[in-house]
This record gives sequence, structure tokens and C-alpha cells, in this order.
Amino acid sequence: MEPALLLLNIRQLLSLRSNTTGPRRGRELSELGLIEDAAVLCVGGRIASVGKTKDAVRDSWIKKNRRKIREIDCSGKVVLPGFVDSHTHPAFTAPRLVDFEQRISGATYEQIAEAGGGIRSSIVGVRRATRAQLTEHVLAGFKEMLAQGTTTAEAKSGYGLSVEAEMKSLDAIGDAARQWPGTVVPTLLGAHVVPREYADREDEYVHIVCREMIPRTAKRGLARFVDVFCDRGAFSLASTEQVFLAAREHGLGVRAHVGQLTHSEIAPLLKYDPASLDHMDHVDDEDITALAGQSAISPSHQTVVTMLPASNHFLGLKCFLDARRLIDSGIPIALATDYNPGTSPTTSMPFVLSLACTQMKMTPAEAIAAATINGAHALRVADRKGSIEPGKDADFAIFDVEDYREIPYWMAGNRCSAVVAGGTLLEG
Ligand code: NIG
Ligand code: FE
Repeated sequence: MEPALLLLNIRQLLSLRSNTTGPRRGRELSELGLIEDAAVLCVGGRIASVGKTKDAVRDSWIKKNRRKIREIDCSGKVVLPGFVDSHTHPAFTAPRLVDFEQRISGATYEQIAEAGGGIRSSIVGVRRATRAQLTEHVLAGFKEMLAQGTTTAEAKSGYGLSVEAEMKSLDAIGDAARQWPGTVVPTLLGAHVVPREYADREDEYVHIVCREMIPRTAKRGLARFVDVFCDRGAFSLASTEQVFLAAREHGLGVRAHVGQLTHSEIAPLLKYDPASLDHMDHVDDEDITALAGQSAISPSHQTVVTMLPASNHFLGLKCFLDARRLIDSGIPIALATDYNPGTSPTTSMPFVLSLACTQMKMTPAEAIAAATINGAHALRVADRKGSIEPGKDADFAIFDVEDYREIPYWMAGNRCSAVVAGGTLLEG
């Protein structure tokens, strides 16, 4: 870590500062806290001050210590908080090219899964891999993320689906996290699908998740959250509640994949205070009312809806979640990649922002807030991440563009020229 770092002459700094404590909702989602010709001082890995360049160069502490401070000229560049990718599945070993071709020929995600492809086909590689091999795969994903401006990533297990292979996946995520300059929030996804050896015995498998995987994960401090794939062909609402209860008993937070393939009721899940409910492509009026009603109860501890448009895109679906309706209803939303070998083989947050703008009619400003500060709320790390404010971690993405709207505009490109993670500059 650099002792002190000063970013100067920033053409546009998106601070994402706000007076509200909870996630951004409604019109607040467009407030980027933009400062032109800006400067940011970082000391000891944290943000010390944020303002105009002209004020920074006149500051007496900066003047006195100038020789000890590393200066970075950001002329003509945009600086924003490092993206918080709040939903990723990096613990896999191989792409799923058979599924890819079958879908091109007309098969659906569910048909492929029923015929032996899908999530269950990723298990073989993960069970066979050593912890070190799996770590390499996870780390490769993290490195790609960093190169595209992501400095915080959630990382799920979920392709081992035995006690041993799930623990190995979480160990690999932890090992990769220790070798990566960004911040990782690990999640146990033992309830991804029922593995073949428990076919038609969902209850028995859920028992193993609740009584073996969750206690071991909690005891070893391997994850902060427990996730469940609650949908047709995966886990029922009743099983999801059981897993959430076990997570709560062991002091772990919860989140879920819901409404990706079919509608499932979400109101019963809200009592477990999920940090995030993800996908939600099949959302109905009751869900909207339940989610919108929460903001009145606890403004700082709300369930965020995490939208994953890259998976809709990759599955060739024509429809995308109605983001405008969620925004207008005051529901907090985040955007994430869903990086995984089945539905979303991308680590690119800028590409996700492009999809949010073109397919979901979000403005570039809304998409950026959903991918930074609201992603941080979806992981319950907003006290340290997601905005450029004094006291928070010095995590930034530096883009070689003159206007922040270019970030989603240059579709599938990468204009991220450098990142700062924990106060250290890493050039792309
Ligand atoms: O978020 N829906 C469940 N999990 C992943 C897909 C996993 C896979 O197909 O490998 C998702 O889309
Ligand atoms: Fe997912």
C-alpha cells in the first residue's frame, strides 16, 4: 500500500456521496455527486479528503508532505468508486460449451439441465480439481474483474454440492481473495441444485446443507452469506426457508436467486432480512408492494433487488426485468455480472451497464449508482465501499473517457485504464 496517494486534475469524479444512509432509491439513484477538476487524497488505504484540485494543491498538509505523496495526474479521465460486483460464481473449472451450442439450436436452460447439462455438469470438474487448481480458476476471474474496474466482488461456491467440495470451493475463494488486491465477500451456495446422488431426495440434501455445510462454514468463518437457488428445478420456498433459518442460527446473512425461471413468492422470505434477492425476472404486483413496503420499516437494512441482465442476454431471452417499474416504486436495485459458466460468462461490469441502459432503459447515472453504492448495500459493506467519501476504503476505477456516460456507451470494450484498491494504484 502506498503511504499516501493524491489523484489530481480528475475531469469528472463521481463521488456517489449522499446524505441518506440506506441504498439509493427512486430519484436518488441518479445522483452521482459529480465534481469536475477534482482531487482525492488517500492515506493508509482510506480516503482522507475529496474536493477540487485547486483546493487540494493549496492545502497546508498536502503542501508540507508533498514529497511523501505519490501524485497521479488524471487529466481527461473519469474516476468513480470501484465497481461492487455483488453476484458472481467464480468457483468453476470449465466453460459449458455443449450447453451453449444446444441453446443456439433451440433448447432452453431448463431442458438442458433436465438432460444432464446445466449446473450439475459443472460439478465434475470442481470435485476433481485440487484446492490449488480451483484457486487458480477463481483468481483468474478476479483478475479479469479488476482489469475492468471491479474492486469488490461477492463470490459464491455452488459447483461442488457435497460437503467436501463446497468447503474446498470456499477455501479456494479464500485463497484467491488473499492473493487479490480487491475485496471479496464469500457466499455459501450449497443449495444451488440437488446433486444427482440425492435425486428426488431434496429434503435429505437440504438437511446436509443446514446441518453440515452451514455449521462448518460458520465455524471456520469461510462465508458471510448463504444463498439458495429458489426456483423450478432447484429448491422450493419451504427448503429455502429452512436454509435461511439455519444460516440465521449460525450468524450468517442470507440472499437468494428467485424468480429467474418462474415466479415464486418472495414475501415469506423478507422476514429473514435477505441482503439481496437476485434475478427477479418474474416479479408480480404483490412482490413489488412487499419490497416497496420495506423501506418504511428499516431504511438502512433493506433488501436490494440485484438485476443480472447479462444472464438474460446470454440465454438469448427477449425480455429483461422492468427496471423502471422497480425504480418508480422506490425499490432499491443493484446491477451485477452473475459471472458463471452457464448463464453469464462475463466479468465485465461496464458491459452490464451497457445492457442496463439499452435493454432496461436505465440512464447511465442510474446504472453506475446501481453498480457501486447499491452493490455495496447488497453486500452490506456500504460503510466501507461504494462511494468516494472520507473514511471509506480507497477503491477507485479510473476510466480513460472524458464523460461518465461513455462507460456504458463503449459497448463490450474496456476503457478502464487503472484501479486503486485499498490505496494501491494498479495499472491496467
Ligand atoms: O445465477 N440460477 C442459478 N445460478 C446461475 C446459473 C448457474 C449455472 O447455470 O451454472 C445464475 O444464472
Ligand atoms: Fe447467479
